[in-house]
Amino acid sequence: MPNPWVRKSIAALKAEAAASEEHGLRRTLTGVNLIMLGIGAVIGAGFFGLTGEASAKYAGPAISISFILGGIVCTFAGLCYAEMASTVPVAGSAYTYAYATMGEFIAWLIGWDLILEYMVGATTVAINWSGYVASFLHDRGLDIPPRLLSSPGTIMVQIPDEIAKTQHLRHGWSMLDSVKDNLTAANIDFSVFPQVTALFNAPAMLIVALVSILLVIGVQESARVNNVIVFVKVSILVLLIVLGLPLVNSENWGGSFFRPSEGPWTDFRYGWSGICRAAGMVFFAYIGFDAVSTTAQEAKNPQRDLPIGIIGSLIICTALYFFGSIVLTGVVNYKQLFVPDPVAVATDAMGMPWLSFYVKLGAIAGLSSVILVMLMSQPRIFYAMSKDGLLPPIAAKIHPRFRTPYITTIITGLIVMTAAAIVPLNVAGELTSIGTLFAFAVVSAGVLYLRITQPDVERPFRAPFIWFTAPMGVITAVLLMLPLPLDTWIRLVVWMAIGLVIYFVYGRHHSVLGNKYPQGSLVGADAEG
Ligand code: ALA
Repeated sequence: MPNPWVRKSIAALKAEAAASEEHGLRRTLTGVNLIMLGIGAVIGAGFFGLTGEASAKYAGPAISISFILGGIVCTFAGLCYAEMASTVPVAGSAYTYAYATMGEFIAWLIGWDLILEYMVGATTVAINWSGYVASFLHDRGLDIPPRLLSSPGTIMVQIPDEIAKTQHLRHGWSMLDSVKDNLTAANIDFSVFPQVTALFNAPAMLIVALVSILLVIGVQESARVNNVIVFVKVSILVLLIVLGLPLVNSENWGGSFFRPSEGPWTDFRYGWSGICRAAGMVFFAYIGFDAVSTTAQEAKNPQRDLPIGIIGSLIICTALYFFGSIVLTGVVNYKQLFVPDPVAVATDAMGMPWLSFYVKLGAIAGLSSVILVMLMSQPRIFYAMSKDGLLPPIAAKIHPRFRTPYITTIITGLIVMTAAAIVPLNVAGELTSIGTLFAFAVVSAGVLYLRITQPDVERPFRAPFIWFTAPMGVITAVLLMLPLPLDTWIRLVVWMAIGLVIYFVYGRHHSVLGNKYPQGSLVGADAEG
């Protein structure tokens, strides 16, 4: 009987990675590349989209405190990821860390769960990208046919530009569901506006296809494109902050920075409960820094540079989010930010419409790099799983010239393209968050477990105060998971159940290590049972 609890030794993991170097993935990424990849994956739909709703509905002007809380939660998990990545610098990220600590079965579950972070995450951001691009092109007089702008059956409505402007809505065609409440509240009869039913989301498919082609061509080429995009989006955010901070006016806070709670704390309307609820929402804005760890086998000096990439990108993004959100709620009343493009509303209020153009460009650039890094990470996890026999060997095939896992990059691209074309936006976002938080909890628990069971293993980076950091990593991840809607929990459970079936039907029987060390056998140098 193959052994589902078999564990891989750290030495075996490192030896495998070294052995595959000659014909496998190519080591080209520097420390700066890794920080840029982290920032590339992080700043996107979360900051450019969700900040407004989180502030208007839950945190009020104190949304910057929610960003700090989100940053603290991610720091606990980030330190644990950094220690694991420096100890086990292998492509599979949390999947590999679980293989080394909790055994194959849990590793498979985490690998399966990571699909929610990377594939569903890329799908969510590709759908958002489509909305931004359509609105950007509309402002330049070019309209994409509305039937090609959303998932099948979505009702699209064309809001006249003058109304979109006064109501701070996205210009051009919008999803009716996303604008209905604002229009009703303003007593605007939207039934008179042109409406059509969408067939599929073409721009979302296009960006996924373009990014997948780039990823097949090469990791270094992809990293270079990412560097340019990250430079653009970070420069635009810095510009927003530098120009916006002097214009912050406390009158926009409506009396006080900390709005007192309205109603019972369970309504999360302002006060500390609202700030925490908003932190859960803007957590999405932080997702992605851990993606750096999936490039472990392509980093020139992974043991030193992976922690730098993870922690460095986290610190930079937290600072940008903190100051960026102070500007947003300081130049306009937070209630006006409940729109798809809150950053554009803020730049309009700053009296700098020219900046809106760059902000939209920054958002499109930002979302593109998130898609890029997520679609880069997913195939590398499949690669690691396939090497272990848990997925068919074809997933580990490396292109002889490009040295990229091209088959799995193409398969990942095709699946995400299909999902982005047909999945409604609201289903995808929270599923990404719950999947990521689950992985955070497991990695944080795993790092402590490894400290206890293998205290002498070489750890180039050690997370400080591990007895505090790791338990806090688990607790804060679970605390952010708990308030997520029941639907999202059910989707998580169903998804994991599907993973369970696949493991017992395929993975368990094909597992390289599980078959080498069947249940009850003695274990050797490459496994620790
Ligand atoms: N953190 C990424 C974003 O906000 C997922 O788009």
